[in-house]
Amino acid sequence: MKTKIAIFASGNGSNAEEIIKHFKSHKTIDVSLILSNNQNAYVLQRAENYNIPHFAFKRDDFYNGKIIDEILRLNKINFIVLAGFMWLMPERFVKNYPNKIINIHPALLPKYGGKGMYGSHVHEAVVKNKEKETGITIHWVNEEYDKGSIIKQVKCSVSSIDTAEDVANKVHKLEYENYPKIIEQAVLG
Ligand code: GRF
Repeated sequence: MKTKIAIFASGNGSNAEEIIKHFKSHKTIDVSLILSNNQNAYVLQRAENYNIPHFAFKRDDFYNGKIIDEILRLNKINFIVLAGFMWLMPERFVKNYPNKIINIHPALLPKYGGKGMYGSHVHEAVVKNKEKETGITIHWVNEEYDKGSIIKQVKCSVSSIDTAEDVANKVHKLEYENYPKIIEQAVLG
């Protein structure tokens, strides 16, 4: 039996696509489902391009309903990957998937984490504070934003002339190089 991964993503989904590609012909791991809280998210088109079942849901379904739980159960999902997913995971998912939900944050946590610290906000803050380095943090998910135990951090340098966009590009590169591999290691235990 393969380990079946569901990816939750809210937007563009470039990380999701790297993960899909990484596991495309994997012997024991399958990206089986893409879920989004945003029906216009480009990640859904990427899922379509790779023939992966995908589904968009509303806030009330996610926090108060049972639809997502049912979809995960029916698709026999045993591992969850967050890739640019903006909503806090409800406690029941964290309980149902203990140490089986992984996230990536585009900074070196605990710096630049927590509510409101996502996407370009993170990189703008890094540049504004004249940081000399930034990077990525891959971590387990618990009930609080960006607080689960850290699996791996990878750093990159920030130069005094880097714009927030430059930093975003450097960080994205680190994400693509590291996230799929770390997911694989985490799934294989
Ligand atoms: C990534 O930088 C990720 O670290 C963060 O959200 C961004 C998503 O980008 N959590 P994409 O949708 O994968 O292109």
